[in-house]
Amino acid sequence: MRGHFISFEGIDGSGKSTQIQLLSDHLERQGIVSHVFREPGSTVLSEKVREILLDLQHIELNPISESLLFAAARGQLVNEKIKPALHKGKWVICDRYTDSTTAYQGFGRGIDRDQIDTINHIATMGLEPEITFIIDIPPEVASARLETTDPDRMESTGLEFFQKVRKGYLVISKENPHRCVNINGNQNPGEVFNEIQQVIMNKIEKETICS
Ligand code: TYD
Repeated sequence: MRGHFISFEGIDGSGKSTQIQLLSDHLERQGIVSHVFREPGSTVLSEKVREILLDLQHIELNPISESLLFAAARGQLVNEKIKPALHKGKWVICDRYTDSTTAYQGFGRGIDRDQIDTINHIATMGLEPEITFIIDIPPEVASARLETTDPDRMESTGLEFFQKVRKGYLVISKENPHRCVNINGNQNPGEVFNEIQQVIMNKIEKETICS
């Protein structure tokens, strides 16, 4: 049995979590229980790393240490949860994966791309999602959506940073047309999900029915 691996990407406030919930509910209605993971996090160790990364007090955290900590959390998640679930033929949905490190630490913080690619490869041993939804939204719209919550260390970085991250995602998408699908996140959640559902139908459900 072969599992399916789907990741969701986008800047903070792009609406990923809502879409992940809608997809997981959609699958459940068809009798498919998906494994949903968030990054950084979803294992005991990775959640501890998450606390360090998002703590507003850690202003001294430098970009390379930040990248390595995200990778450490991911390495644990891949080995402890993602690979075993895929081996059992399960659906895995990840709220962020390697593209977040490329977009945020690479394009956003300015870390050399080769170094980021190496770090990502070490953490995942090259395991790639089958589909990556990149929910694209202007940073001004996303930040207005986040205004009601207390910003964490990453969210308090500022609009200019998120503009770089957004551009980074568009580059990643162009470089990986075999798995990346851009979705306009500046629509209502139902409209966004319709697009996502179409892609899932075309790429996976059809293939499952035909095999
Ligand atoms: P989170 O509260 O999970 O944000 P969101 O709901 O938008 O996913 O916090 C994760 C933060 O960490 C988010 O600002 C993106 C950032 N991040 C990176 O900078 N690099 C990474 O590799 C990952 C996985 C996340």
